[in-house]
Amino acid sequence: MTAADAAAANADADLDAKLRAQLAAPLAATPWTQLRGRPVERYDGKVRDCYIDRERGERVIVVTDRLSAFDKVIGLIPSKGQVLNQLARFWFERTAHLAPNHMIAVPDPNVMIARECEPLPVELVMRAYLTGVTSTSIWRAYERGDRTFCGHPLPDGMRKNEPLPEAILTPSTKAAKGDHDVSVSREELLAMGRIAPDVFDRAAALAAALFAEGQRFAASRGLILADTKYEMGIARDGTLTVIDEIHTPDSSRYWYAEDYEARLGRGEEPRSLDKEYVRRWLANEGGFSGDGPSPVLPDEVRLEAARRYIATYQLVTGERFVPDTQPPIPRIAAALGAT
Ligand SMILES: Nc1ncnc2c1ncn2[C@@H]1O[C@H](COP(=O)(O)OP(=O)(O)OP(=O)(O)O)[C@@H](O)[C@H]1O
Ligand SMILES: [Mg+2]
Repeated sequence: MTAADAAAANADADLDAKLRAQLAAPLAATPWTQLRGRPVERYDGKVRDCYIDRERGERVIVVTDRLSAFDKVIGLIPSKGQVLNQLARFWFERTAHLAPNHMIAVPDPNVMIARECEPLPVELVMRAYLTGVTSTSIWRAYERGDRTFCGHPLPDGMRKNEPLPEAILTPSTKAAKGDHDVSVSREELLAMGRIAPDVFDRAAALAAALFAEGQRFAASRGLILADTKYEMGIARDGTLTVIDEIHTPDSSRYWYAEDYEARLGRGEEPRSLDKEYVRRWLANEGGFSGDGPSPVLPDEVRLEAARRYIATYQLVTGERFVPDTQPPIPRIAAALGAT
């Protein structure tokens, strides 16, 4: 072992010890009602706790360690909130020249202060591969015999996880809390009358540009960005703006490029870095397909999920991930003046 290998092994052992310690005290939820003495509106998503200051037009987003899958909160993954927030920051900075985004500041590893926007009623899903495990995935539709997906023709004879002829946009309408989202074509979406054609087309163009850059950059890091989901909204000044998160392992599928072809040839699943690991555990080991109560994630699965989130961060950014080990609630409260 060289000195550098030994240092890396020590660093990994140190990281693992920190993650293990966090198993008992992850960031589950935040309890505040005021920021710096100002009352704020509260909205809890599955993953993020949002504090909205309408007067300032700001949304303070606390990214927790909650993991959602099959549209439900499934469990808590050590350091997940920090990974997600810092990866979103990385990508927002890298792509700001392609599309305006909501990021104003990152005052804490788990917090992003964002411009409050009026969200479009649709998620912009970009896909470059025939894949997925849930009942609403493009692969399941193809397996059932569908040869168009959201208005895009799909050639016969494709195998699971193969690249699509070109990247496609498959808009997904946002369902109410607890319901599953529905994939639709541009025409179906416009027929619902919830979004103007020109707004949708501008959002689609931004999504395509962001996805192309995401794929290009991921490839330069030895990764395949197989698919991703963008949320966009209209800012107070009318600017179409990317909101929520971008190119994180929650909103995207990342695969290792190096053995993708070989595994595809053998009919094996790609080695993935994203949430797919937990989805597969739930489906295979947990026998869970989204209905009823979800199985409890064993600590070893939570740890392995954390390692994968962190690996994504390190591969994409090229930087070591340093988990913040201070108790998160008092730390964030101090950073935000939250009470
Ligand atoms: N800049 C922004 N302006 C307005 N809303 C935003 C902004 N950024 C994110 N959001 C919204 O804040 C919430 C973030 O929480 P989270 O990602 O946990 O939600 P979710 O579980 O994915 O979705 P849901 O809202 O259905 O619970 C989402 O509803 C998202 O659309
Ligand atoms: Mg979300």
